[in-house]
Amino acid sequence: MSNDEALLSIIYVSSATRLLADDELEQLLRAAREHNAWRGITGLLLYGDGNFMQLLEGPESEVAALYARIQRDPRHHTVITVQKELGLPREFVDWSMAYRRVDAPTWLRLSRGIGADGRPLRLSAAKGVLQDFWAALG
Ligand SMILES: Cc1cc2nc3c(=O)[nH]c(=O)nc-3n(C[C@H](O)[C@H](O)[C@H](O)COP(=O)(O)O)c2cc1C
Repeated sequence: MSNDEALLSIIYVSSATRLLADDELEQLLRAAREHNAWRGITGLLLYGDGNFMQLLEGPESEVAALYARIQRDPRHHTVITVQKELGLPREFVDWSMAYRRVDAPTWLRLSRGIGADGRPLRLSAAKGVLQDFWAALG
């Protein structure tokens, strides 16, 4: 059973192939949330300035299978794995996929915070940055 599996967390960044309209993002999100809820996957998706940043967390095999599909998705390119680790606690317990559009300054701040600027960083710290950002939205 997938419920017995270790929790895998992945944070990646990517670039949207073209600017996505709100309704296109809503459609992506609706399908993603439905799928994730069935598969025990949670996380956060951010879209800012034509870029995506996503945290995926869930049973190892489910997250690995989903990430393989996401990497092939033609709606984005240059998918870069920033952080990947097994065994950390789940942060976005209540979210089959939290979502926020962010402005350019916020994007920069979060990119640095998760280590996407090349600084080596623990995934637990990066998850904390995303959790704090989300909590601050209220
Ligand atoms: C930035 C981005 C994030 C995505 N996040 C998810 C997700 O969290 N869950 C999900 O099921 N699909 C997500 N997708 C969609 C998948 O890439 C894929 O289209 C979907 O899983 C259906 O795959 P299939 O057409 O091979 O069945 C995302 C796509 C993009 C571009």
